[in-house]
Amino acid sequence: MSAEFARWLGIAHAIIQAPMAGNGSTPAMTAAVSAAGGLGSIGAAYLSLEALAAEVAEVRGRTDRPFAINLFADSATPPGAADPAPMLALIARHHAVLGLEPPALPSVPANPLAAQLDAVLTHRPAVLSFTMGMLSPADIARLKQAGIKTMGTATTVAEARALEATGVDAIIAQGSEAGGHRGTFLGSYEAAMIGTLALVPQIVDAVAIPVVAAGGIMDGRGIVAAEALGAGAVQMGTAFLTTTESGIHENYKAALISAADSATAITYAFSGRPARGLRNAFLIDGEAHRDQILSFPLQNAATRPMRQAAARQGDIDRLSLWSGQAPSLGRRLGSADLVRRLVAEAAEVRARLG
Ligand SMILES: Cc1cc2nc3c(=O)[nH]c(=O)nc-3n(C[C@H](O)[C@H](O)[C@H](O)COP(=O)(O)O)c2cc1C
Repeated sequence: MSAEFARWLGIAHAIIQAPMAGNGSTPAMTAAVSAAGGLGSIGAAYLSLEALAAEVAEVRGRTDRPFAINLFADSATPPGAADPAPMLALIARHHAVLGLEPPALPSVPANPLAAQLDAVLTHRPAVLSFTMGMLSPADIARLKQAGIKTMGTATTVAEARALEATGVDAIIAQGSEAGGHRGTFLGSYEAAMIGTLALVPQIVDAVAIPVVAAGGIMDGRGIVAAEALGAGAVQMGTAFLTTTESGIHENYKAALISAADSATAITYAFSGRPARGLRNAFLIDGEAHRDQILSFPLQNAATRPMRQAAARQGDIDRLSLWSGQAPSLGRRLGSADLVRRLVAEAAEVRARLG
């Protein structure tokens, strides 16, 4: 199945490097993964149209292989606190540690999705993947007409069926182990915390299109397990965060490699949407004041100056340390070497299983 999926995408190995909006994935990572025969992804959700064009040009300058662009198909956002003052006061305490002035209430830009989709149609990547919602059947048809394959993220069988009905080409089944934002868009995220092992085969049975397994897959063992569940490919995020091309701070990489299996939690604190990351001071403080957290993307904008200063200073207590549940299985390798290692490991596991 994975060979068929890879052929369909025009790649050698059915390994997708997860898009990691922010600075987890970089154009150098995307290009290295694609050049090594996987599918690299640009996490474009937070990029301006100019920055997206520059990233696409950089990837194309480094490789002529297929790659994906990823967007947030923003659906209804979870509600947040009505009064921003308590959250700004909470953030101010963390600003003081970083030597920053207290934060001001940021303005929230209009939803960029429509303009981002137009840009994707111009750039024509091999794949557009998206999370946190659905695109309209008309948008999916426009993308298809432009020769762009579409993959939507589902965290339940109901979401997978709803996505299939819009005409997407494949489903990314995101298990509860996954690092970063939950893709859930139908119902509460708490009701959609289904582990990869349980989620993937149920979605495989429920839809007629290929399924990509995501969440907690870090090595050849995970890849073969996903294959056994019927997945056509894997999408791996945390495994690529510790590679040379990753844009995250060295202290964040070190924290991932030394983290325990129990070190992560789901939090609204950084962005106003549920996401899995390593517990740190800001996560714990924010969650202790959950009722003060603002809605997405206001909370995300309000914490941005703190996160940017923390990234400059290497302060991992005030950064969003997105991580899946198996961070210690990460390797410090180049992204292309990691793809090659994963392919070799998966072959060894298949041979061992006979
Ligand atoms: C740092 C980080 C950032 C992420 N950003 C995105 C994103 O922009 N878009 C998206 O669809 N998924 C994003 N994800 C989720 C991944 O697509 C995927 O579901 C997850 O990485 C799988 O679990 P794993 O991290 O255990 O491999 C992100 C994950 C991480 C770790």
